[in-house]
Amino acid sequence: MRVLLTGAAGFIGSHIQQALERAGHEVVAIDLMLAAAHGPEAPAPLGTHHLDVRDPEALDSVLPGIDAVCHQAAVVGAGVNAQDAPAYASHNDLGTAVLLAAMDRAGCRRLVLASSMVVYGEGCYRAGGSVVAPPGRTTADLRAGRFEHRDPATGGELEWATVEENAPLHPRSLYAASKLAQEHYAAAWATATDSTVTALRYHNVYGDGMPRDTPYSGVAAIFRSALAAGAAPRVFEDGRQMRDFVHVRDIAAANLAALEQPLDRFTALNVASGHPVSIGAVAGILSAAHGGPDPVVTGEFRSGDVRHIVASPARARQLLGFAAAVTPEQGLAEFATAPLRELVAVGAPAWR
Ligand code: UD1
Repeated sequence: MRVLLTGAAGFIGSHIQQALERAGHEVVAIDLMLAAAHGPEAPAPLGTHHLDVRDPEALDSVLPGIDAVCHQAAVVGAGVNAQDAPAYASHNDLGTAVLLAAMDRAGCRRLVLASSMVVYGEGCYRAGGSVVAPPGRTTADLRAGRFEHRDPATGGELEWATVEENAPLHPRSLYAASKLAQEHYAAAWATATDSTVTALRYHNVYGDGMPRDTPYSGVAAIFRSALAAGAAPRVFEDGRQMRDFVHVRDIAAANLAALEQPLDRFTALNVASGHPVSIGAVAGILSAAHGGPDPVVTGEFRSGDVRHIVASPARARQLLGFAAAVTPEQGLAEFATAPLRELVAVGAPAWR
């Protein structure tokens, strides 16, 4: 298969390129080499076209003969403040819209889209076996160290449960809003053009080649960078908040499976390891494997954070036969000493 891979020079894109080529596919690699992700004026890797997905003529030059597009190019992170909104809208929303229109011109009808768990906002919570929508944590609760969601009826702590793909969607950040917009544009395009889209909702991704910490980084890069500097990972809240850390090699394997097995119209699939882990445990595994200082649980909190978000990996297994191969215990221990991508922080992502 001849695959157009956008964001091919990025952390996730470069692992996908390797996986596709190892499986015998031909990859046409493109990347904008955004300074926020690659440092200022970084050249594209050999064989990668320096190309902006918002440029229709440039896309028209690479799309003829492409069987499927794997769209990873995006501004990532959560967004630092409202000034980042145009960058998410421009690169992620507009970029996807321009790409979909170009795919239609080229007659390309298969898309695999990088989406994210952040489209759900808060995860799934239960009380006494029934699903309960949590009312949200107040600043007073968080200041008092009451980190768990509470049942509005009884005041008791809610238990987390795994989130399935049909859960309500509640984007809470600029990034989340743009990922959901990408899904919506892609779903509408699939219907209008009789095409197929598989949107892979990644959980917390980590692995070798991850960029070191910037204000746009997730917690794995932050903890790993602290250890590289000889400092203790600083664990917020009480460290018992749950996530699922999925290795970048498994993300690449899920993309390969999705490209090789197109599903009906628009299908969203969680991509997770299936081994939920607390943030405190992540810090502990990384510190121990790195031989660094023990983590410090600080009790700090960020008002935008969700408490628990853990995906059910069942649907990806059922529809694609995909199951992650790397457990967090193995993968995080390996990541504790794996090389990070050195990055010169350049501030907010440019959008014009
Ligand atoms: C992260 C990403 C999100 C991505 C999603 C799924 C960011 C900012 N968030 O969301 O874009 O789509 O995974 O892959 O990139 N924490 C600490 N210490 C720190 C920093 C964070 O304990 O120094 C805690 C936070 O309070 C939170 C948890 O770690 O409870 C996870 O934080 P983070 O990785 O930033 O965000 P996610 O909500 O998991």
